[in-house]
Amino acid sequence: MKILELRNVSKVYGKDGALTRALDGVSLSVDAGEFVAVMGASGSGKTTLLNLIATIDDVSGGSILVDGRDVTAMSDEELAAYRGLKLGFVFQEYNLLDTLTVYENIVLPLTLRGVHRAEADARTRDIMESFGITQLRDKFPGELSGGERQRTACARALVGQPSLIIADEPTGALDSRNSRNLMQLLRMMNEKYGATILTVTHDPAVAAYATRVLFLRDGRLFDEAARGGKTDDELFREIVAINAAAGGADYDV
Ligand SMILES: Nc1ncnc2c1ncn2[C@@H]1O[C@H](COP(=O)(O)OP(=O)(O)OP(=O)(O)O)[C@@H](O)[C@H]1O
Ligand SMILES: [Mg+2]
Repeated sequence: MKILELRNVSKVYGKDGALTRALDGVSLSVDAGEFVAVMGASGSGKTTLLNLIATIDDVSGGSILVDGRDVTAMSDEELAAYRGLKLGFVFQEYNLLDTLTVYENIVLPLTLRGVHRAEADARTRDIMESFGITQLRDKFPGELSGGERQRTACARALVGQPSLIIADEPTGALDSRNSRNLMQLLRMMNEKYGATILTVTHDPAVAAYATRVLFLRDGRLFDEAARGGKTDDELFREIVAINAAAGGADYDV
């Protein structure tokens, strides 16, 4: 079943003399249960892509379907429901509400969905337990490490069982050990909870956790690597090779 479909999506910023074509005819689809990474150098259009899916920004052309509904044609009311119910977000920073505790941050999407308090509480406890953050329950985001913040953000993104979880450079502010832990967690969310995930990253080691990797360059998709039966290491090497063939990338291997 198709969760996400982009049809010939383009995005142009600026006007007249100073146009930036951030996305240029991107078509892709993501099936339920996939864990897709979008890779590309700085400025290739990764964040733009996520912002369009999140409806933080409007497309200049093309359409975006989530669960078969075109988000580019929704009313404000429909958009609010779409963002709240269909999507989960994990971003590099500013994920959590600073005035709420870890527990309150995670339970929030359920409260907003009108889930009964007892059930919301049970689901929140369950997810905190499997994410290993039960002991952080009453802490505020400002009292957490970067890794703990991202675990909490992942729990919040997952708890409402959205159709699609989108993540923009979720490991961007983490060291390599915490990055690996976070990617293991995203993998667990995908495998154990069946979450459909679309993440963007410029880091091949991060992308190698996905089940499929799409490559963006200058706003266009130019290649794709599927996991098939490959190990993380084999997929990693393939990703590095594709990036090298595309004229190098902005990272150290
Ligand atoms: N609000 C904006 N106004 C004008 N140009 C923009 C805007 N947002 C992005 N761009 C331009 O669009 C292009 C794509 O930007 P985008 O942020 O999508 O890149 P990215 O792949 O996420 O890069 P990074 O890895 O650095 O985060 C860039 O050339 C950028 O300068
Ligand atoms: Mg970006």
